[in-house]
Amino acid sequence: MADYIYTMEIRLTPDQQKGANLVQEVARTAGMNLYLTGGAVRDIISGFPIRDLDFTVQGNPHKLQKELERSGAVIAAADEELKTLFLQLPGNVRAEISMARTERYDKVGKPPVVAPATIIEDLRRRDFTINAMALSLNAGSRGLLMDPFNGAADIEAKLIRVLHNYAFVEDPSRLIRATRFAARFHWPLEERTQARFESAKENKYIEHISDKAIGQEIEQLAYEDDPLHIVRVLEKEDWLKVLSAHWTTAKVDTNGLSQLMKTRQQMNELGYQPDPAPAVMYFLTSRLTDKEIADMRKLIPRKTLVEAWKDLEDNAKDLARKLTGKESATPSRTWQVLSSARPEMILFLAVTARQQAVLQKIKNFFTKWRQVQQKIPLPEMTELHITPQLPEYPKIAHDVFLLLLDGKLRSRTETLKFLKPLAPPPPPPPPPPPAKRGRAAKAAAAAAGTPAAETGKKKGKGAAAPVAAAPPSPAAKPDAKGKTTTPPPKPSPKKAAAPKPAPKPTPVAHKAKPAKKKH
Ligand code: CTP
Repeated sequence: MADYIYTMEIRLTPDQQKGANLVQEVARTAGMNLYLTGGAVRDIISGFPIRDLDFTVQGNPHKLQKELERSGAVIAAADEELKTLFLQLPGNVRAEISMARTERYDKVGKPPVVAPATIIEDLRRRDFTINAMALSLNAGSRGLLMDPFNGAADIEAKLIRVLHNYAFVEDPSRLIRATRFAARFHWPLEERTQARFESAKENKYIEHISDKAIGQEIEQLAYEDDPLHIVRVLEKEDWLKVLSAHWTTAKVDTNGLSQLMKTRQQMNELGYQPDPAPAVMYFLTSRLTDKEIADMRKLIPRKTLVEAWKDLEDNAKDLARKLTGKESATPSRTWQVLSSARPEMILFLAVTARQQAVLQKIKNFFTKWRQVQQKIPLPEMTELHITPQLPEYPKIAHDVFLLLLDGKLRSRTETLKFLKPLAPPPPPPPPPPPAKRGRAAKAAAAAAGTPAAETGKKKGKGAAAPVAAAPPSPAAKPDAKGKTTTPPPKPSPKKAAAPKPAPKPTPVAHKAKPAKKKH
């Protein structure tokens, strides 16, 4: 049997893993059975990126709300009817926790009657076989895959298949979802599903889609890896206008969107994980009217997304102002401004800024200035015992980096001159080796004309001697003389060693690591 827990753990990003642990711990403490469900299981099995974590609990997830918040989760929205919490977990991880439920559709176009259920019953109310699997996260059955509709086989066959004949009638948003998944994975609809799809389209079932489902589908677009492709396919199927009456690809800033996704990719490669969703919404709706955008925002469940989208332009203006003002007068200051900015804002500004100075600074931040880290003389720092074990290491490395950035340390010699007074005292000499005993020692002592016991002592002294006799290293005297005897290049070490701490300490210690490799 496949070890799905292992697969889950290696497939989740570290932040998703932490988020999953957080939710598991809260559910365990509350004594609730918890399952990973829906898209998360599908993506784990299929190998596609895991976009968000869908959890299902047997019980009411609202009971977990306080404990989740205490553990660091933000409740981005809550659906009282469906008993669903939309979470933002640390590190931009999106998650949902829903109550395991049955849905009974009494009338076309009317919301279903919902009732608490077991996990297997819950899987039966879902849209497609590939989304109707659950992975147990409970002690005793942890890792057990529940797959009553053979979703894993459909993943293998790369097919999108509804669970039953009434799937599109009961929930017409599945028409849009089918198109979206088919476009994202490049998988076709299974033959009978395709036939049901056509017939539902012909019968205009889509007119019965609920506002809630529209809001959810709009929101999902923000998180697509290739939103432009999805929007084009939705338009071709006539679904885009279902989401907003005048929405077409002509209303999308396609250049901006492509640029955004490209820049996001570049940032990812540098280790930044900006959440592009608010900016995606900005470009997708660029040419819609304010009223159309406002109506759309009202329907989106995650208010955190809506707020971030609303604030995008103002926040970007603030950052642009900082980058062109005194705060960014030097490369080191600009570095600090950009290091403490939210990656989302840098991403958006990189795509929308018109001022050359702003664009150039962002470019330097991602390219030229980063390479300056390689000038930090790590081997020499290690020789001076300035290593990551030292509590002051991050600050020293950061200060060196900023001085290098501003061209205030122009050579290796200048850099070392700056560093030497900051070195800690050398470690104490190793203890002398124990006195030798036995016949060989006695013979050696006799040869030297000393008693055997003293030989050891003398040897001990002798062993310490090289250290004691070695020329006092500059590192040994920072307290006594460092300030006066080893004046560093401009600026003086006194000044340079204690500049104002960066607003957010740049993790030069860990950034120095890749540089170390290159050395
Ligand atoms: N679901 C459903 N019918 C819907 C919406 C959702 O059956 N109209 C179920 C599916 O099992 C789905 C899960 O709820 O997998 C989570 O929904 P959602 O997050 O919208 O979709 P995902 O499948 O997770 O897809 P994505 O990768 O786009 O997040």
